[in-house]
Amino acid sequence: MNIRIILVTILSFITNLSNAQKDLPTDYLSSEFHKNRREALRKSMPENSVAVFFANAVRNRANDVDYVYHQDPNFYYLTGYNEPHAVLLIFSEEKEVNDVITNELIYVQKRDASAEMWTGRRLGVEGVGANLGFSNVFNGEDFKDLNIDFSSFDKVLFTDFKNDVRDSKTNEADLYNLIEQFKIKVSYEAQSFEIPTEEQIVEIETNIDVEGLKTLMASLREVKTEDELVLLKKACEISAVGQMEVMKAMHPNMSEAEVQGVHEYIYKKYGAEYEGYPSIVGGGNNGCVLHYIENTKTKLDNDLVLMDLGAEYHGYTADVTRTIPANGKFNKQQRLIYDLVYDAQEAGIKETVVGSDFKRIDSVGREIINKGLYKLGIIDSVGQKHTYFPHGTSHHIGLDVHDLSNRGELKENMVITVEPGIYIPEGSPCDEKWWGIAVRIEDCILVTKNGPFNYSGMAPRDADEIEDLMKEESILNAFTLPKLD
Ligand code: GLY
Ligand code: MN
Ligand code: MN
Repeated sequence: MNIRIILVTILSFITNLSNAQKDLPTDYLSSEFHKNRREALRKSMPENSVAVFFANAVRNRANDVDYVYHQDPNFYYLTGYNEPHAVLLIFSEEKEVNDVITNELIYVQKRDASAEMWTGRRLGVEGVGANLGFSNVFNGEDFKDLNIDFSSFDKVLFTDFKNDVRDSKTNEADLYNLIEQFKIKVSYEAQSFEIPTEEQIVEIETNIDVEGLKTLMASLREVKTEDELVLLKKACEISAVGQMEVMKAMHPNMSEAEVQGVHEYIYKKYGAEYEGYPSIVGGGNNGCVLHYIENTKTKLDNDLVLMDLGAEYHGYTADVTRTIPANGKFNKQQRLIYDLVYDAQEAGIKETVVGSDFKRIDSVGREIINKGLYKLGIIDSVGQKHTYFPHGTSHHIGLDVHDLSNRGELKENMVITVEPGIYIPEGSPCDEKWWGIAVRIEDCILVTKNGPFNYSGMAPRDADEIEDLMKEESILNAFTLPKLD
C-alpha cells in the first residue's frame, strides 16, 4: 500500500468515525423486519398495482422552530427510515424502471454537509442502501425523472396526501415537490380536486384507489410479529414502572405537571424516546376531560388523579392508565366508583381472547357499570342513557397509540387496550357527593392462544394494592431543589 492510499484510508476512517454515532441502542427492528413487511404487503396487493407511501411532513411549531420530527407509522413500518422528504413505491410484480428490474424504489433526502451540521445526520442514498437493505435508492430530486406510466397499472394505491405540507422553497426535492410530482405522474392535477371521493373515482374511471391500502396496511399492522411484541412489551412495562414509581412519590402538594415529569423521566431512563401521545394527568374534575393535556393544576390536594400515559419505545407505544388518590387513601365515594371500573375492566380482560371482539369486551364492562351506577343512585334505571362512560373500551396499540385495525375478530398476537371509565363532572344530574370523580383503568393486553396476558400488569390496579404501594417510601422524597422566587 503506498503512503497516499494509507493517508486517504486514515482520513476517511476518521471522517466516518466522526459521522457515525456511537453507543446506540442495539435493539431496533432489523432491516430484515422491514423488508419482510414490504414483502408481506406486496403479497396482499392486487395484481398489477403500485402502492405509494410518503414520509411524514415536517411541522412548524413557531418561527424557525419545528416540532420534533416523527415518521409516518406506515412509512416506518415498511422502511425503518426516520427522516422526512421521502417517497416509497412498492410494485405488486417486478417492473423495469430506471433501467433496472425491481419491485420497489425509494427516494430519500440527499446528504448535505451544511444542513446536517444544523439539523442532524442523514443516511442518504448510500446509508439507506447499506443500513436499511434497499437495492434501488435515489435522491428525492431524481423522482421527477422517474419514468413510469402510472396509467398502465390496474390500481395506484395510496392513502392520502399530507394536507399540511410546506414548500421549503430552497429544497427542490422536499415532500411538497415529491407529492406535486406524483400528482403530475398520475394525472391528479387534471382531475382538479383534492382527495377524490369514492363516487368521483367511479365517475372518472381512474385507477387511483385511496381506500384499499388502508385495509391492507391494517391487516398487516394489527397482528404483531415477535420482533414487534418485544418492543411493545417493553414500552408497556416501562409505562407500568412509571405508574408504580409515581404511586410511591405521590403526595397532595404535588402538581399535575410534576407527576407528568416523574413518569416521563422514568421513560427516558429506560431509553424510551418519546411519549406515544401527550401525557394526561388530571386531578379531580380535570380527569373528566378524556384527553386532558394541560396538566396545569398546581396542587392535587385530596383529589383522585387520573394518569393516562404511554412510553414510546423504538416507535411502539404503550397506553396505560391508573387512577390513584393523591393522599394515598380512596374516600368512600371514590372507592365505590373505582371498584366498579375495576370490575368492568376485569370482566373485559377475561373476554380478551382469540375469536372475541371489541363489542363483547365493551358490553360486559358496560353492563357492570350501568348496574353499578343504578345501584348507587347515580342513574335512574339500568337502561338510562348517560354520559358517564362516553368512550369505547378498546383499541389496538402499536406504532400508533390508536393503531391501524380492521376491527374484526381478535387473533393471536394482537395487542389491545381494555380501558373502561366513569367520569362524573361537576354539575352532573346526581348527588353532589359524586361530582369531580373520574376513574379510568387501562391496560395493554396481548391476545394469546392461552388467554389474555397483561403487558402492563406490573402496576397495581386493585385499590388495596394501590394503597399499599402508596405507603412505600419514594427515592424522590429526598430530591429537593433550591427555592426560586
Ligand atoms: N390515551 C388515549 C387513549 O386511552 O385512548
Ligand atoms: Mn387507550
Ligand atoms: Mn390511554
